[in-house]
Amino acid sequence: MRDFWNQVDTYAKQWIKEAGDRIKASFSRELVIETKSNPNDLVTNMDKDIEQFFISKIKEVFPGHRILGEEGYGEKIETSEGVIWVIDPIDGTMNFVHQQRNFAISVGIFENGVGQAGFIYDVVHDELYHARKGKGAYINDQQLPPLKQVSIEESIVSLNATWVTENRRIDPSVLSPLVTRVRGTRSYGSAAIELAYVAAGRLDAYITMRLAPWDFAAGKVLIEELGGVVTDLEGKPLDILDRSSVFVAKPGLHEEILSTYLSKYKG
Ligand code: IPD
Ligand code: CA
Ligand code: CA
Ligand code: CA
Repeated sequence: MRDFWNQVDTYAKQWIKEAGDRIKASFSRELVIETKSNPNDLVTNMDKDIEQFFISKIKEVFPGHRILGEEGYGEKIETSEGVIWVIDPIDGTMNFVHQQRNFAISVGIFENGVGQAGFIYDVVHDELYHARKGKGAYINDQQLPPLKQVSIEESIVSLNATWVTENRRIDPSVLSPLVTRVRGTRSYGSAAIELAYVAAGRLDAYITMRLAPWDFAAGKVLIEELGGVVTDLEGKPLDILDRSSVFVAKPGLHEEILSTYLSKYKG
């Protein structure tokens, strides 16, 4: 069994690096940009190309594994049995298009609903955040320490300005008092990078109202491996096959924000 996961880990890293090289090579070419659900929901030929690249590799080496990917080239998955690769070929497509940075490849691998491996690759910085359940978490070859407690006053919280202005998902009065109290707020425009930053201790918490499984699958494995807490905004565990709100934080901080601020949130 250990050999099996070592093999999965080795292939995943190899394919992620190769996918990163393809993305970097695309910088000098013109992108084909389309929109999906609204004019700001962008998708490019590279999002599609990279997802198809992963699917062809996985199917070749692990034909029994199933794949859930944002661009829909995987399969329709209704149960969490067996091994499932949850893939976001480019997380932060808007940043990819506008900035050519602040985007990542995100790959989470689950077995019977349990996260076994997580990979978030910040292509431009060549930083691969990776974790195996029970085997520690790393940035490239550097092992990450377990997450330590921090007070609200000393914490940096990542959240989008949308959630403290009028929006259809959360009353702005729930999070604005938290924004006033924390040391600082940030917003990077890539859920995967924000989750990786929580794992790396660069952020203390991340709060967002709606993510899909491919946005949070890898980050959940990384953060939990380091003792961080991963739930929705009501404090409930995330379902790896469903969209939901996401609230991740260092231990202690999670409990405090949940009881002091998020208890006022009506989901
Ligand atoms: C998006 C990014 C963004 C988050 C959105 C996601 P995509 O993913 O992670 O930060 O706020 O909800 O959809 O579409 O760029 O892969
Ligand atoms: Ca997208
Ligand atoms: Ca995404
Ligand atoms: Ca994406």
